[in-house]
Amino acid sequence: MIRTVLRMGDPRLLIKAQPVAAFDAPELQALLADMRDTMAYLDGVGLAAPQIGVALRVVIFGFEANARYPEAAPVPNTVLINPQLTPLSTEEEEGWEGCLSVPGLRGVVPRWKRLRYTGFDEYGQRFEHEVEGFHARVVQHECDHLDGILYPMRIRDFSRFGYTDVLQEGQTPEE
Ligand code: NI
Repeated sequence: MIRTVLRMGDPRLLIKAQPVAAFDAPELQALLADMRDTMAYLDGVGLAAPQIGVALRVVIFGFEANARYPEAAPVPNTVLINPQLTPLSTEEEEGWEGCLSVPGLRGVVPRWKRLRYTGFDEYGQRFEHEVEGFHARVVQHECDHLDGILYPMRIRDFSRFGYTDVLQEGQTPEE
């Protein structure tokens, strides 16, 4: 079922979400189905449970190709529950981000360039990945939602934050 995505300003986006305790629960599968439907409907590259008002540490992400980020390499479709992120170096990278909870806007956000993430899939199986670039960016963006952090809170240079339809060509290399 397609759910309403909360928009910035809603206090539910600022809550620190709780870990998932039961993996074999039908509620979890129903939540994931709704998240997939909602992300597909809005053509997103990722979605976190708090964005549909569920304060659990669950994110999904992945795409083959996405109109919002045409330059980005594909990211495998992933369910990530109770994630832990560890940077693999202190190196940061800047890149344009948008968010379904902040519609119509884009901004340049610094993120760790390379990281390891661990967590659980929808069956409660633990897994681990080392990623970099846009994949690492998406993981950091989605997992921030679990701690009540929206990407504008990470922006350092507000001269590179604006409305997608106003930003000039060349200012948004991901578009
Ligand atoms: Ni977001």
